[in-house]
Amino acid sequence: MPKMVVDGRIVSNTEISVNVKELVLYAPEIAAQAVPGQFLHVRVANSYHPLLRRPLSISSADNIAGTVRTIYRVVGQGTACLAALSSKDSVNCMGPLGNGFAIHGQRPLLVGGGMGLAPLMFLAGALCPRPIEIVMGGRTKEEMFWKDMFHVMCNTIHVTTDDGTLGSRGVTLDVLPDLLKNGAFDMIYTCGPRVMMEGIVKLAKEYDIPCQVSLEDYMACGIGGCLSCTCAGNDGSRKKVCTEGPVFWAQEVMP
Ligand code: FES
Repeated sequence: MPKMVVDGRIVSNTEISVNVKELVLYAPEIAAQAVPGQFLHVRVANSYHPLLRRPLSISSADNIAGTVRTIYRVVGQGTACLAALSSKDSVNCMGPLGNGFAIHGQRPLLVGGGMGLAPLMFLAGALCPRPIEIVMGGRTKEEMFWKDMFHVMCNTIHVTTDDGTLGSRGVTLDVLPDLLKNGAFDMIYTCGPRVMMEGIVKLAKEYDIPCQVSLEDYMACGIGGCLSCTCAGNDGSRKKVCTEGPVFWAQEVMP
C-alpha cells in the first residue's frame, strides 16, 4: 500500500479529557487509504526540535470529508508541541503506515486498555454491523470518555476502572473469563498494556478463539529502516512493529 508524506491541515485539536486531545487532520490522500490498525507518523514541530516524528494510531478516517482523526495523550515534549497547535496550523505526516486488523469472524470481542482503545475505535466502525462487544479499562472514570465514543458502534460495553469510579472495580482481565464462558465469540482484538494483552491471549488460547494484538512501541523512522521498534517473533525472528505490525496474530509475537 502506498505511503504518503503530506502536510495535513489541522481541522481541530480539541481537549477531550485531562491531557488527552483529539486531532482531526484534513489529509484526503491518507483518509482514502487508511484501514483500521494503521498509524500516522507525525512531525510534531516544523523545526528539528524535537527531531523525531510521533506515531499516532488512526481512530477514524472519513474518505468523503478527507479527514483522519487521532486521539493522543500529552505525555512528553513531542506531544506537548502537538497539543499547542491549532486550526491555523498544519502538520507534516507520513501514512497510513503499518499493517491493519484482519476483518474476521461474525462475533468479535474487543478488549482495550487506556489509549489502546484509539485504534480499536476505527476497527469497531469497520466491524459494524456485526454485533460488537467491547471491554474497556482505565484508571478512573475521567479516563473512560471512550464509553460515549464507542456507544454508537458497540452492542455491549463493559467498563472497568482501577478505582471503581465507573463500571466494575478492577481490570479488563477480571471480566474476561465469564464473558468467554458465556459468549460465542469467534474473534478477539486487543490493544493496551502488554501485561493485559498477554492475559487475554492466554484466555483466547484456552477458548480456542483467534486473536489479534496491536503492539505499541517506540518508533523512530516508522518505515522499517532503523530497527528501533523490533520485538521477538515466535519463529525466532525479530519483527518490525512499524511495518510487520503494529497488528499481529497473537501466535506470531505473544508467549
Ligand atoms: Fe524504524 Fe520500525 S521504527 S524500523
